[in-house]
Parts: sequence; C-alpha cells; structure tokens
Amino acid sequence: MASDAGRPGFREVWNNAEMIGGWLTRAQAEVLYDCAAALPPGAHVVEIGSHRGRSTVVLAGRVDVRVTAIDPFVGGRLFGGPTTRDVFESNLGAAGVRDRVRLITRRSNELRPAWGDSIDLLYVDGKHDYWTVSDDLAWAQFLPEGGRLLLHDCFSSIGVTLAVLRHILPSRHLAYEGRAGSLATLRVMRPTPSSRWAIVRQLPWWLRNVGIKILLRLRLRRVAALAGHLGPYDPF
Ligand SMILES: C[S@@+](CC[C@H](N)C(=O)[O-])C[C@H]1O[C@@H](n2cnc3c(N)ncnc32)[C@H](O)[C@@H]1O
Repeated sequence: MASDAGRPGFREVWNNAEMIGGWLTRAQAEVLYDCAAALPPGAHVVEIGSHRGRSTVVLAGRVDVRVTAIDPFVGGRLFGGPTTRDVFESNLGAAGVRDRVRLITRRSNELRPAWGDSIDLLYVDGKHDYWTVSDDLAWAQFLPEGGRLLLHDCFSSIGVTLAVLRHILPSRHLAYEGRAGSLATLRVMRPTPSSRWAIVRQLPWWLRNVGIKILLRLRLRRVAALAGHLGPYDPF
C-alpha cells in the first residue's frame, strides 16, 4: 500500500511491527491499520494489552491519531513483567511513534470505573479470562455510535469466547461484523439477526481451536498438524 500525503502506508508500518515479538498476524495488523486510518484527524485509539508493542506500533502508524496503551506488564514466563515495559518503550522509539502513545501501566478493569475520555477505536487484547474480558467489553460504552471494537483471541480462547456469547450475542448495542483469524470486529450499532447468527457460526472453529490447544498441552503437535495447525503456539 502506498503512502498518502506523506503518511506511512501499511507496508511501512508492518515493516516496523513484524520485527516485534507478539501474537498479531499480518492480516490482523491490516485490519487494525485500516480501522485507525479510517478515523478523523486527532482521533483517540485505546489499546488494552500492549505487551512489546507489536499492535501498538500498527495502531499508532498513522501520524494523526493519538493512542492510549493500557498494560500493567504482568510478570511470568509468557509476558515477562517490567523488562517487557523496557522492550515496549524501545520498540515504540525505534518505530518513531513513541510521542503519540500515552502509556498507562494499570489494569484495564481498575481504570474503567473512573474513565472519562471518549474513545474512537478500541482494541482489546489484555487478560483473557471471562471476567476481565467481560469488563473490557464494557469499555464499548465510551465509543460513539458506529465506533469499532476489535477483539483479539475471539473464538480461540475459552474466556474470550464465553464473554462474547454472554455479552455480545444478546447485546442490543454491539454487532459482530466478522473476523481475521481470531481478531473479531464489533461495531456499536443495533445487531441484525444475521450478525447474531454469524457469531453462532464461529463456534465449530472455536471448538477446533480449543481441541488444538488441548493437543498442544498434551505435547501432541503432530496430531495438531493433522488438523492443519503448525508450530508450537496456540491458534490466534
Ligand atoms: C496477548 S498480550 C498483548 C499482545 C499485544 N497486543 C501484541 O500485539 O503483541 C496481553 C497483554 O495484556 C496485559 N494484561 C494482562 N492483564 C491485563 C489487564 N488487566 N489490563 C490490561 N492489560 C493486561 C499483559 O501484561 C500482556 O502484555
């Protein structure tokens, strides 16, 4: 994609992002980029769960948006704790986007009750348990009518999918639009029967992904490969 009016195009942004470790595919990054690029100048993007900044760099790729990144940088083998924050800072600096990203090192569910800022685009990829995702979906209250909520690991994680079935399937305000891998696009609008039905139609894919995760926990990678899943990582 070519640059327009001196702004970096997707390819340029992805060149920076793909060097950063994380769980965002190129196709998913393109969805994030396109949604951010469709916003008016000065728009506010909020990201819940930034890790090393792979998705942050994509969301902040357009020069005319401001991004709030929320991540407490939890410890443990998977996420790495405070050293991950240093990596995040350095990755954003290398990509040249640090000045338009505000970092808040708090848990999203602690922040939400006192949140007062409007949000034009919301990306949710924080803690994946049912309760935290349920709370993160409630951040949609800060989006305008027609605003988008992008949800990662939808239909690949049990907690995320249960929260979607509990809160999005019966919702009167948030509609499912589609997905790129596990990245679901939701929109603040009245759902149609077909958008609800589209959620239900993802459930076989969800069950397949849960099955693959079980196989990987049992160290049965070869069996997972028979179902088309290659590599040691959970499907996303
Ligand atoms: C899957 S990673 C995010 C990946 C990132 N979006 C990327 O593209 O690479 C999940 C992140 O959520 C953060 N996290 C965990 N609990 C959180 C919470 N309650 N609120 C916000 N972030 C949280 C973790 O510290 C971790 O960095």
